[in-house]
Amino acid sequence: MADDCVKNEASSHRDGGSPDPGSQGTVNINGEAAAENQTLSKRQRKKLLKQHKWEDERELRKQRRKERKQQRRLQRQNHHHQNKEKGGDEAQNGRKRPRREVTSGSLRLVVDCSFDNLMLIKDVRKLHKQIQRCYAMNRRALHPVQFYVTSLGGQLKQSMDEKDKGWVNWKDISFKMEHFSKVVAKDKLVYLTSDSPNMLEELDQKKAYVIGGLVDHNHHKGITFKRAKELGIDHARLPLSSFVKMNSRKVLTVNHVFEIILAYLEKDSWQEAFFTILPQRKGVVALEQNRTSIQEKEDEDSDSDSGHDTAEQTEKRT
Ligand SMILES: C[S@@+](CC[C@H](N)C(=O)[O-])C[C@H]1O[C@@H](n2cnc3c(N)ncnc32)[C@H](O)[C@@H]1O
Repeated sequence: MADDCVKNEASSHRDGGSPDPGSQGTVNINGEAAAENQTLSKRQRKKLLKQHKWEDERELRKQRRKERKQQRRLQRQNHHHQNKEKGGDEAQNGRKRPRREVTSGSLRLVVDCSFDNLMLIKDVRKLHKQIQRCYAMNRRALHPVQFYVTSLGGQLKQSMDEKDKGWVNWKDISFKMEHFSKVVAKDKLVYLTSDSPNMLEELDQKKAYVIGGLVDHNHHKGITFKRAKELGIDHARLPLSSFVKMNSRKVLTVNHVFEIILAYLEKDSWQEAFFTILPQRKGVVALEQNRTSIQEKEDEDSDSDSGHDTAEQTEKRT
């Protein structure tokens, strides 16, 4: 019964009554309430007073909250202006900080998918996965490249539409149905191919490096070299034999070549790039970097490269 009284008192007050919290037990709502109030214990009256005080200060609290909010907004604006003056990245991103410094380069890496009809669907699926991997690695890279996938169509596009519909929303990548020679000027193209007699020494930011979009178990040996020559464009092989010794052939997968280029852009060292990217099973061992011995090694390799591995062995290792 006493508890009910307390509740009634409080709600009467909320509904517009103006009690005098100081006059213990005589809350002037109406006579009935006042009478009830007299029946309240000391503790109940105290509780009631507290409640009234809390309600009376409602407006004051609201006002204080508003002021604090305003203050925080001003602080943020000041911070933003200071950063803008410094010309910092933070200003550009509002309150957000960039996760790390990423410098996008102008170097283009093209995956040439014009070999679609030479592959079985299981190999097309492998190529699809390799392209997904290239995309993910480029998005994470410290020095991302401009990534192109050209001659997209046929089985590969079908696989992408079926298995990974989200590809149409991928960012920082250009998908082209056209052949790469229609997308980039010929004098800017360099076909990367393990059969080239030219060794890549460094990367030229103005060039577009082409990787053959092919998983062929070495059934089409030399096909990209042949294509490059037919098109009359530059070609080069990675300088693997100058920096590392491997227990397998130097025909790498699309994503390994792609990732080696990204790693080289970051580390500025072929050797580090090879060590970082090539899997251990390739038995990569560092070579002493003596230019004469490098050249000798290159000569030896171009003879022995003509392939002791069977197609299966090559694919298993790559
Ligand atoms: C699995 S390989 C395809 C091999 C194919 N038989 C050919 O003639 O290129 C995939 C692609 O990676 C690139 N690649 C592989 N190893 C390379 C190397 N050692 N140097 C330069 N490019 C390489 C080439 O662009 C190649 O087309």
